Amino acid sequence: MAILTYLTTTHFDFGAIKVLGKELARLGVKRPLLVTDLGVRAAGLLERVLGVLPDGAALPVFDGTPGNPTESATLQALALYQAEGCDGVVCLGGGSAMDLGKAVALLAVSGEPLARYDPLQRGGKLITGVAPVICIPTTAGTGSEVSVGFVIVMNDGRKLTISNPKIVPKVAICDPELTMGLPPLLTAATGMDAITHCIEAVLAPAINPPADGVGLDGLYRGWRAIQAAVANGAPDLNAHHGTCNAVILPTVLRFNESVCAEKYERLRVAMGLAPGADLARAVTDMNAAIGLPAGLAELGVTEAMIPDLVPHALGDLAHFGNPRRATAEEYAQLYAQAL
Ligand SMILES: [Fe+2]
Repeated sequence: MAILTYLTTTHFDFGAIKVLGKELARLGVKRPLLVTDLGVRAAGLLERVLGVLPDGAALPVFDGTPGNPTESATLQALALYQAEGCDGVVCLGGGSAMDLGKAVALLAVSGEPLARYDPLQRGGKLITGVAPVICIPTTAGTGSEVSVGFVIVMNDGRKLTISNPKIVPKVAICDPELTMGLPPLLTAATGMDAITHCIEAVLAPAINPPADGVGLDGLYRGWRAIQAAVANGAPDLNAHHGTCNAVILPTVLRFNESVCAEKYERLRVAMGLAPGADLARAVTDMNAAIGLPAGLAELGVTEAMIPDLVPHALGDLAHFGNPRRATAEEYAQLYAQAL
């Protein structure tokens, strides 16, 4: 059954962060926990956001979000939330800070431990409530500010995706001014992250015409804007989620084509390509044009690592959303092709 839910009030404009105080008041949040990371703080963005609130300087801040959000960092942030008597979360940063903040909001109301909310174990039934979340993304691409889920690296090393409509943030404040200081490689990687998810939304087997529209329009805009956006920045990053998406996308597009040929035509139209053009080739060329690596090998992945990577792919929630279900052998072949 198709379920269409769009729940987040989204403000999108230059200078949009000025609505933060009004939105906190509307949600009845008196003492939010600010969840961010040290890079965002160092870039001066935390100061800018706190500056729009009359009591901003007095608010508790958790700036210990790691590059990939972890269960242990989530519990540290939760302890601060509880010690400070918080009643909501404001996430400021990329996907990691937003995912970590959403996890804190879930645990604050529905209780620990995080592992019991695994949707593959029907954990959604255990969610009794989630504290209000406002997300202020500082990069394009993750979509976590409007999404039903978050990804956390658990203490046992598993990457757990928790997904439930109750986790959708109440408000997203998308202020392009906050993304202007990103280094070009991060703009490239997060931009390709957005383009990957636009394509993914169109190709996913679930019937969701609004998502098709958002995906095709996002692809249309993103594909045309990414080179100019990357050209306007400063340097440097290594392996990154969006970079991984960009590098793997051509291989996955080749793998899926046989089961969704009609949707590939729509993607070609959105990207301004000729009918029947090689989509995978177009993504490879774009990656090269914006300075992203040509393959996983450049990110340090070797052939010997592939057997250990396959179970991660099979256990990932995205495995179930792919239009063509891959076997373990096929995943091994895909990794080898993407090297
Ligand atoms: Fe992503």
